[in-house]
Amino acid sequence: MATHLLITALLLFSSLLGPVLGGVLLSTLPQTLSVQASPRPGEILKAGEDKITLRWGLNQNFQGIITDDAYKIVKVKLCFAPISQQDRPWRRTVDDLIKDKTCQFDIVCRPYSKNNKEETFKWIIEKDIPTATYFVRAYALNSTEKEVGFGQTSNEHKTINLFEIQVNSVRLALANIVAACMTAFCVVSVCVFCILEKRRLRRARLLQRNESSSSTTTASTSTTST
Ligand SMILES: *[C@@H]1O[C@H](CO)[C@@H](O)[C@H](O)[C@H]1NC(C)=O
Repeated sequence: MATHLLITALLLFSSLLGPVLGGVLLSTLPQTLSVQASPRPGEILKAGEDKITLRWGLNQNFQGIITDDAYKIVKVKLCFAPISQQDRPWRRTVDDLIKDKTCQFDIVCRPYSKNNKEETFKWIIEKDIPTATYFVRAYALNSTEKEVGFGQTSNEHKTINLFEIQVNSVRLALANIVAACMTAFCVVSVCVFCILEKRRLRRARLLQRNESSSSTTTASTSTTST
């Protein structure tokens, strides 16, 4: 009887928490959007320099009737391809979109345009995008900002139409040099500060010693010490 009660309580508790803690499952979402990104398959782009042109709209090949009444916002995101998720649990794919780490980078957020207009956006790849293989996914969000539809530039298993982003190695080298210089500058300034401080203390001690002796000798030594 007690265990029965406990199980009922647990079930009730989890069903109450479920909608709060869990998110929408990607596997339940209809692929009602189509997204295109400008990079050719396998193309290598440079972070902080190259641009990606994105186009999205309703998926014309969708099997069935699309009800987009609830669509309020389209959010376009940059997502890791499986090859760049291997051995990296912090990029893992989870069906629950709140826990999913596939699409970590927001590209753009736009109000959904009702009259099936194709939207475009030109994105300069941000400097802090890590070197990896990517694809692009768009989510349609409803008024409570929950995912209600999606589309992506790759297939279901994310094996086609992938492109690479690389961190600019010259920029990275420059950043490292600047960091090294700043560290060296810090060390040097700390040393200079220590030397000056030691000198100041020594001088203060000398002055103190002189002050404790007669007033006439204080005047003569303090002028020689400075
Ligand atoms: C938005 O979508 C979520 C998930 O499908 C749903 O639970 C919620 O009721 C929707 N909100 C509105 C205002 O329709």
